Amino acid sequence: MNNQYLTWLEIDSKAFSQNLKTIRKLAGNRLIAAAVKANGYGHGLKEMVRLLNKEKIAYIAVHSLDEASQSRAYGWGGKILVVGYIQLENLESVLELNLEPTVYNFETIKRLGELAEKYNHKINFHLKIETGTNRQGVESEKIPKFVGEIKKYRFLNLKGVSTHFANIEDTTDHSYANYQLEEFNRIFSQIKKHGLKPELRHTACSAALLLFEDTKFEFVRPGIAIYGLWPSKETYLSYRMAGGRNSILRPILSWKTRVIQIKNVPHNAFIGYGCTYRTTSKTKLAVLPVGYCDGYDRSLSNLSYVLIKGKRAPLRGRICMNLMMVDITDIPGVKLEEPVVLMGIDGKEKISADQMASWAQTVNYEILSRINGGIPRIII
Ligand SMILES: Cc1ncc(COP(=O)(O)O)c(C=O)c1O
Repeated sequence: MNNQYLTWLEIDSKAFSQNLKTIRKLAGNRLIAAAVKANGYGHGLKEMVRLLNKEKIAYIAVHSLDEASQSRAYGWGGKILVVGYIQLENLESVLELNLEPTVYNFETIKRLGELAEKYNHKINFHLKIETGTNRQGVESEKIPKFVGEIKKYRFLNLKGVSTHFANIEDTTDHSYANYQLEEFNRIFSQIKKHGLKPELRHTACSAALLLFEDTKFEFVRPGIAIYGLWPSKETYLSYRMAGGRNSILRPILSWKTRVIQIKNVPHNAFIGYGCTYRTTSKTKLAVLPVGYCDGYDRSLSNLSYVLIKGKRAPLRGRICMNLMMVDITDIPGVKLEEPVVLMGIDGKEKISADQMASWAQTVNYEILSRINGGIPRIII
């Protein structure tokens, strides 16, 4: 256990390598873009860049120009797919940082085309097409005009065509995903018919990669699975129903802190803001230096537990901005600065991001990506 920090995250590099081995197997010989947006799904962009550099993955997928620029600063030498929007006035950075932007506006094509011309330099980009998620993407009726616009610029290279599924992880009924895939194939044929030949088709997030061979094409973009988590219970169920093996993914993140005060509280005493918890007997409490500003969801107040000495210590009272209180009455021998597991494994006990998400009525993605970026991350 690290002695340096009061609160910290540990990233298990061995589990990470195993997850990537699994992903490579699922991807076959296709190119992989590891999705590291939202600070590497909360695991730390810097740390993910370090680990992915060792794994020789071809691409990372980031959301913003800022994330792309940080990834380069952290030493990412591979390709970068930017899946979010880059402002027109910042598009010069695509050349400076050697990025492959995702495009779905005429204005962006025009600006990229002009920059490519100005610098006499090829720009690779990806066109995102609308297949039914109704998020970013070019509507199918606009495809001929887009192709026409792209063809105007000799240094613009439409390297890839992509889409993103709306309903592939939330259900065991995959009819809508199949419909989107058909739409994708139809629109891709349209692009080819109009004279462009993009080399990469990409649609596969983790759920698609785990479940559907037909979605993989030449390039896949897994996120949550590289961190060792299933996109949802439904994805896991679908995978198992199709005969998949049980434990192919291992969570790589543990979140830890230390006890900062121990106190005895009498019977009938209130604990925390709002007096939402009242003791029913003499209680021993531990105060922990983690709160909702660290990304520990306030809706877990009076609901979740942490692990101390391999035992469950339930949360008592409301989670504060920087603090929380847990009941250690039945855990003998807890000392000041005793290590505490907020997420991860301690002996035979475990608290997963999935469990926390279910308590907070959200998804594991949100639990992870909201962990405060300022908390130190340590690669183990
Ligand atoms: C465009 C795009 N591709 C890929 C991913 C990765 O998805 P997942 O984490 O479900 O694998 C995301 C994540 O939301 C995304 O927005």
